[in-house]
Amino acid sequence: MTVSRRGFLAGLAAAPIAVSAGCALGGPPAVVSGPRALPIPPLADSSVGADGVRHFRLTAQPGTAEILAGKRTPTWGVNGPYLGPTLRARRGETVAVQVRNELPEPTTLHWHGMRVPARMDGGPHQTIAPGATWTPSWTIEQQAATLWYHPHPHGGTEKHVYRGLAGFFLIDDPDADALDLPKDYGVDDIPLVIQDRRFTATGALDESDPTDIGLLGDTIVTNGSAGAYFRARTSRLRMRLLNGSSGRLYHLGFADDRAFQIIGTDGGLLPQPLSRNRIQLSPGERVEIVVPIRAGDRTMLRALPIADRGDIEADRAREFGFDDSFDILDLRGAASMEDAPAVPDSLMPRASIPTAGAAAQRRFELEWFQINGRQMDMNRIDFTVAPESTEVWTVRNIDNWPHNFHVHDVQFQITDIDGAAPPPELAGWKDTVYTRPGSEYTLVMRFSGHTDPTYPYMYHCHLLLHEDHGMMGQFLALAPGQRPAPMAMPAHGGHG
Ligand code: C2O
Ligand code: CU
Ligand code: CU
Repeated sequence: MTVSRRGFLAGLAAAPIAVSAGCALGGPPAVVSGPRALPIPPLADSSVGADGVRHFRLTAQPGTAEILAGKRTPTWGVNGPYLGPTLRARRGETVAVQVRNELPEPTTLHWHGMRVPARMDGGPHQTIAPGATWTPSWTIEQQAATLWYHPHPHGGTEKHVYRGLAGFFLIDDPDADALDLPKDYGVDDIPLVIQDRRFTATGALDESDPTDIGLLGDTIVTNGSAGAYFRARTSRLRMRLLNGSSGRLYHLGFADDRAFQIIGTDGGLLPQPLSRNRIQLSPGERVEIVVPIRAGDRTMLRALPIADRGDIEADRAREFGFDDSFDILDLRGAASMEDAPAVPDSLMPRASIPTAGAAAQRRFELEWFQINGRQMDMNRIDFTVAPESTEVWTVRNIDNWPHNFHVHDVQFQITDIDGAAPPPELAGWKDTVYTRPGSEYTLVMRFSGHTDPTYPYMYHCHLLLHEDHGMMGQFLALAPGQRPAPMAMPAHGGHG
């Protein structure tokens, strides 16, 4: 359902209002009574041991959540019924996470965007059996950023995330601390995971009828709640936006077209804030924005039709939800606001990765459920990389489907899109990039020092159905002279 701005503003005048959660797939719009205050995922408890290691405990478990007001939805969550707590750690810290699986089937937990040894990555080789606990530990070696975690079981990622398994992982560092940016978690610095879901009449999650890009929902769920509002108390609100959907792209903006500042992307803060009134997010991508709010303000964060379409036919675009509009979050200003300082003119300097001595150039063609004409094989290593080496990857979407491209272990720099420099909002650190049908993207990345002859890292389309259907490959990071260890499935990694 496309709400005209006039109709939208008229709707706001009447209170209490029914928030239309949108209608993408025909039939009556899903209407929930509301609005309700936006839930903020709690910060995960942690304890720092005598060895300085920060310990977290996470349990993946079934539950029942009130996603729609007044309805009980059977869900999966981490330390709760739906989604999980926000983990927070500092650059240089060593973290250890106890991940317990109380689900009725195997799962994994992957640290999306994290520079991490392959055995700690939580990809499809680090399966945690029901009743088992997996205890990865690693040292945070990257700058302040908004990362996230989600399951990655081979062939089952979409279902596990759809049912509610996902959470934020925020990295802090002294450079980001020193900047005068909103940083009071849940007050003027809020995480917002945007997901589309479909519900049955009884309120159960509807997992039927995926499109070619996966399950598309007609109801927008933010931080686990459909139809939420957030009341800001300061004149600048920092929002850490995550597209946690299976396959839906979001083209975001405010109902009154107000400008916001983009301050960060997947891997951290940008060199300078960028003033924009639209931003697009494909599944898995994050963006940090700072939004100006006035006392008594009222606006709506909305998803608008996708503008960045490329070579895609109109009927296919419609099937993939590109024409849909949704209300995402009702944003209000308190009656009296605390003044917040302006966003600093300069944020985090970013040096370009030198490509002169690049160890390899690789090409990846995306089409159907394949990368370079092949589907994922858990027992096939597609290539190997050297630790601390630089590589240049060219990724081309030769399909008439939208795809995106995500690489584990690295934050990359996009140096070229179809022969031109990327727009500044795509020139910061990224771990996931939208690949428009018919377009080509050049990515430059520098691998970590971690090596492992047994466990690979993944690269894949982050449209979760595509990943599940094999649009993924794996690479090993090998030290000079190191040989790959023989692989045999089922892989292990979980233990009781
Ligand atoms: Cu967010 Cu390989 O995943
Ligand atoms: Cu990842
Ligand atoms: Cu894809």
